Amino acid sequence: MSTQTSGLAIETAGLVKTFGETRAVDGVDLAVPTGTVYGVLGPNGAGKTTTVKMLATLLRPDGGEAHVFGHDIVREADEVRGRVSLTGQYASVDEDLTGAENLVLLARLLGHRKPAARTRAAQLLEAFGLTEAAGKQVKHYSGGMRRRIDIAASILNTPDLLFLDEPTTGLDPRSRNQVWDIVRAVVAQGTTVLLTTQYLDEADQLASRIAVIDRGKVIAEGTKGELKASVGAGSVHLRLRDPEQRPIAADLLRRALDAQVQTDPDPVALTARLAAAASHDTAAEHAARALNELARAGITVDNFSLGQPSLDEVFLALTGHDTQQPRPGRDDSHDPKDEVAA
Ligand SMILES: Nc1ncnc2c1ncn2[C@@H]1O[C@H](COP(=O)(O)OP(=O)(O)OP(=O)(O)O)[C@@H](O)[C@H]1O
Ligand SMILES: [Mg+2]
Repeated sequence: MSTQTSGLAIETAGLVKTFGETRAVDGVDLAVPTGTVYGVLGPNGAGKTTTVKMLATLLRPDGGEAHVFGHDIVREADEVRGRVSLTGQYASVDEDLTGAENLVLLARLLGHRKPAARTRAAQLLEAFGLTEAAGKQVKHYSGGMRRRIDIAASILNTPDLLFLDEPTTGLDPRSRNQVWDIVRAVVAQGTTVLLTTQYLDEADQLASRIAVIDRGKVIAEGTKGELKASVGAGSVHLRLRDPEQRPIAADLLRRALDAQVQTDPDPVALTARLAAAASHDTAAEHAARALNELARAGITVDNFSLGQPSLDEVFLALTGHDTQQPRPGRDDSHDPKDEVAA
């Protein structure tokens, strides 16, 4: 870490990559502290993979600059390559080989002698819950096993910086949790992780700081708390004893909290979204007053919680569209002036 003076694993300024008319990455500034998980959150086509590929020296930027541990990604690409590892969006292991064969082969390519390569492969297979599947060809692995072997392959040598490009896309909840545990374990070993994701809860679970990107631009950046706080004061979740009282309760909450009230599919549940301007203190005070009024009206509340806004709500508020919607106007007629300001 000799050249690292700023405490930053990644620092970019005005990074740009264009493909023909498409500005895939359009002036991205990032500052990623070492030793943390940094989340880059954005919908399909936002520019996540293009950003990661530039930082991993696989693509040359068309503008701006970036440093990884103080090394310029263009002029000092070899130094950067020595410090980073990439788990791409699509698995890169050899499907015809077994899990164990893949890891041993890659470890040999990294310069480990055969016994050391076997030991390291066995350690990782064990750590990733793949010991039983070690002798199976990777083409017979489930999606979750594929992602795990892919991440294992990228940390055969512990990298200082690991890029994980959508590591859990398409995985079932159990496999996602396993990958999350792996990410936490990798960071606990001192590796910095840049994680791209389309899943707001994933960024919420893993990342210390998050950059939200949309159409090649960072539209918001901060800690989870900062991002959420910039959008609204939070939500009040209620469960009532009696479903018949829900319409009265919704009405009371609407007036007492000056909030939007949603009724959940669960017939006793209600969610009230508090206005963006309210500080957290006032949110708590409002919630207490609302509870009081419900009690006075003879409405029994079985369960109550006051939570911060979800990252889904953050994204919607920042971009005007939700994360599952394809980017509108993503073609040659796209006018940058249409971009939603943060
Ligand atoms: N090699 C390429 N040639 C032309 N256009 C490209 C190329 N790679 C990416 N693009 C375009 O650049 C934009 C950003 O793509 P990118 O793959 O970085 O998005 P992403 O955020 O990784 O999306 P996803 O979540 O779907 O993986 C998209 O409009 C995409 O079509
Ligand atoms: Mg991608």
